[in-house]
Formats: sequence, structure tokens, C-alpha cells
Amino acid sequence: MYPGTRCVHGILCSGDSAASATARMAEELISTAEHDKLPSSYVRPEAQRPRLDEVVADASIPVVDLANDDRAALVSAVGAACRSHGFFQVLNHGIPVELMLSVMAVANEFFRLPAEEKAKLYSDDPAKKMRLSTSFNVRKETVHNWRDYLRLHCYPLEHFVPDWPSSPPSFKEIMSTYCKQVRELGFRLYGAISESLGLEQEYIKKVLGEQEQHMAVNFYPKCPEPELTYGLPAHTDPNALTILLMDQQVAGLQVLKEGRWIAVNPQPNALVINIGDQLQALSNGRYRSVWHRAVVNSDRARMSIASFLCPCNDMLIGPAQKLIGDGSPAVYRNYTYAEYYQKFWSRNLDQEHCLELFRTN
Ligand code: OGA
Ligand code: NI
Repeated sequence: MYPGTRCVHGILCSGDSAASATARMAEELISTAEHDKLPSSYVRPEAQRPRLDEVVADASIPVVDLANDDRAALVSAVGAACRSHGFFQVLNHGIPVELMLSVMAVANEFFRLPAEEKAKLYSDDPAKKMRLSTSFNVRKETVHNWRDYLRLHCYPLEHFVPDWPSSPPSFKEIMSTYCKQVRELGFRLYGAISESLGLEQEYIKKVLGEQEQHMAVNFYPKCPEPELTYGLPAHTDPNALTILLMDQQVAGLQVLKEGRWIAVNPQPNALVINIGDQLQALSNGRYRSVWHRAVVNSDRARMSIASFLCPCNDMLIGPAQKLIGDGSPAVYRNYTYAEYYQKFWSRNLDQEHCLELFRTN
């Protein structure tokens, strides 16, 4: 505790200096303390709890081997995965295992830094391009989530890396190497996804413009009562494509499939890919940005590193012309990503699908 402050979520005392307010908010980070009881501000009402015993443990999301030389087969596997689950794991994706391990290790080290170090980076302002925060949107939400996260803008790297954490010392270098490779992988996937929709290979990459890239380094500490809360509640990703590097030892990601939550069991060295809201719009609803959530557990902390490819802000997004025809009118209107993103962050994470607000009828 910082002297003279109380750890009460969301309540600011008048007369505080901005600095002490920030310090107190930084206390909201859950990675800085041991917790043997779940604070009441994390407890979901009965009807919203994860019901972990009802989760399907033995189903799986599709796995696509990107080393497949048969282009038609690869494109068809990607298309099938996008249609059926909106989620798939990729193998032989070209990102070296050693790099994935280094990224995980340095991210872990980051969250184990002393509280004072982390407090300097804390912010709950979603507009900030580098910030350490907690839960999802602490300014808006009524119940918090059992997650701390470091959010980074990653493109162009030269522009943002100077402001990234300088501790641990290898953080900037490892993360920027990873970011470059993830971006390339994302573009390769765009190629296959475009083709699978019958569009030219470069279509998605071109139409999204000089894309932004963001990263969320998620840390889910051990949770005393995982049945009562979430790491992240059900949500869809607002961006175009997400590439998730998961903890190999600790599962926690779950995907909604036909009304049931299925657990994603990490395949060794795989990355998890999911379609975001923008590709749902672009595909005119053929591919869906699927609800997913992260649950926590009482045994082990879990990490995940999400890379988000996002259209540039002023790009006009909407269903591809080729996918609009007699039998399939445009399901979504055109809009700019700036408009979309603003709407997304002004809501609660687990409200209705944000894309619903952009329907034509
Ligand atoms: C996300 C997300 C899932 C996970 O960051 O958007 O869905 O397993 N993360 O951490
Ligand atoms: Ni997500």
C-alpha cells in the first residue's frame, strides 16, 4: 500500500495529486501481491460465472500445417477453419521456437518486476500507446477481471520501441524481433484467407492499408476462486486478425462453438489464430469473429501474448464488393476503423457483438 491511500477500485478521493492517484491506481495491479481471497469487485453475479465443469475439454479447434506445399489444400484448410470455428492453431509457421520461448521468458520477467517499477508504467487510459493496466477497461466496467496486461503499439517499430519498458534489459530487442516476424506471418495468413474467399491473394492486405499492430502481454496470476471470475470474459477481438502465443503449460483460452465453451489445448510450438471483427465485416459475415474468453486457475499463473493486426484508422472497411451479390446483400455498412475502435472501447467487453452496431438492417 502507498502511504495514506486505500485500495478501493474506481474511487478517487478529492484533493489527491495526479501522481498519488496514479500510484493508488497502480495498486490495482493484481500481479504485485499475493491474494488468498478474491476481492468482491472481481466476483461475477451467479448467472455470469464461467461454470468450468460444463466446459468441453476434449474437443479441439482445427490445426493447420503451414508447411503444406499443396497451396489449394492449404487454402481450403484455412477457409474451412475460418468458417467452422473462426479459430485455428498453426504449425510450421516459421517463427523459431527459441524466439517464442524468449518472448515468454522476458514477458514473465517483466511481470515479476518490483511493484514500484511497474507503477511507473500504469495507466487506465485506453488512448495511451504504451501502458501497463489491469482487467479490461477499469474506467467503465463494474466487475473486474483477473488479468494484468501490458499494451504496446508495435508499428512502425522505430516510432514506438523507444517508449517500451527498458527493464528487463532484453525486452525491447526480443519483443521487436518477435513483432516483425508476427507481422510477416499475419500477411501470409491474409494471403491464404483472401484466396479462400475467392479474392485475389493481396486483397486483405491492400484493403486494410498501412496497418497498425498492437500487442497485449497478458498475465493471469493464480486466482483464489477461479469459479467466480474471469481472466477475460467472453469477447470478440475488434481488430482484423489475432495471433496468440500461448503458455504451453497452462491452458485457459476457451472458444464458443455451437453454444458450448470448448477449451483450447495448446499444441506444442503452435500459435493460435483468430478472425477479428474486421475480417468478419470484410468477408460479409462468411467468416465470423468468434466469442472467446480466458479463464483462470488456482494452481499456476498463466501468460499469453496477443498480437493484433488492425486496419489503419482512416481506412474505410466494409464487405468486399466481390462478396456482395444478388443472393447476398451487404450485411454491414462501410465505416472507418477509427469509428469502430471508439465504439469498442466505450462499451463493456462482454456486451453484444460490437459489429452488430454496423449492420445494414
Ligand atoms: C485477448 C485474448 C486470450 C488469452 O487478449 O484478446 O483473447 O488466452 N486473450 O489470453
Ligand atoms: Ni481476444
